Amino acid sequence: MMCSWEVGLLTSNETYEQVHASMSALGLTTAESILDNWIGAATEQNLSVIDVLNHLFNQEISSRRDSAIKTRTKLSGFPVKKSLDDFDFEFQTSIDKKVMNELRTLRFVNNAENLILLGPSGVGKTHIAIGLGMDAIKAGFSVYFINSATMIEKLKMAAQRGNLERKLKTLNKYKLLIIDEIGYLPFDSEASNLFFRLISKRYEHASTIFTSNKSYSEWGEIFGDPVIATAILDRVLHHSVTMNIKGDSYRLRSRKKSGLFPTFG
Ligand SMILES: Nc1ncnc2c1ncn2[C@@H]1O[C@H](COP(=O)(O)OP(=O)(O)OP(=O)(O)O)[C@@H](O)[C@H]1O
Ligand SMILES: [Mg+2]
Repeated sequence: MMCSWEVGLLTSNETYEQVHASMSALGLTTAESILDNWIGAATEQNLSVIDVLNHLFNQEISSRRDSAIKTRTKLSGFPVKKSLDDFDFEFQTSIDKKVMNELRTLRFVNNAENLILLGPSGVGKTHIAIGLGMDAIKAGFSVYFINSATMIEKLKMAAQRGNLERKLKTLNKYKLLIIDEIGYLPFDSEASNLFFRLISKRYEHASTIFTSNKSYSEWGEIFGDPVIATAILDRVLHHSVTMNIKGDSYRLRSRKKSGLFPTFG
């Protein structure tokens, strides 16, 4: 008996053209591009129609997923690409692998909990934040990375232009917001108030990762006012995990090894 694809091809070139046109009209570009190969494979390997359809749909879904990940990664604002698979946990022994594995399940994003990465320069805070952000993008969450000083600048500009609410709404729509480098530069009182408004909006609603080289006891200095610092910390810490990373800067490890840089402590 002749395979049904073969019958289709031999008896109706018009139908074949129409299938291509319909796939194209439906935007099934990947499936359409591999349709002819699969028609060939179906004939050669005697595959069933359902097998072929299954392969075509799977390829379409996986290429759509890949391109959605690419687009979301491009829009995420990551300054560089980092993956947790490239993170050397043997070098950074102060990180509890159990905690890291739990974070990688992304339950904290689902539960709108926060993660605060504290530690000195070069210990991998930004790397971990981006790595978790990449995991979250792959899992289908909307993610945005922003440096805290840049974010404040943007919020101030929005306030001046009368679009603060809209800007806050935009930042609030991300399921995971990563605010990098809190406390590297002190906030003036307008900056602290804007930061508080953002935190209040995201509180118990969406997840935020913060990185900082300052301990919580120093956050009062960052925000210039202990009352606002307490109000911010209260909301940030209510549902949160803190990862206190100790140890040497990864940036300096090779220089230390070669004796080009003095070791601290
Ligand atoms: N344990 C590690 N394994 C692999 N690479 C690491 C590790 N720790 C840090 N790095 C790399 O070292 C560099 C510095 O790390 P990162 O930028 O994350 O540090 P940081 O804690 O954010 O520092 P800073 O406070 O100065 O911003 C990056 O290129 C990062 O990928
Ligand atoms: Mg950093």
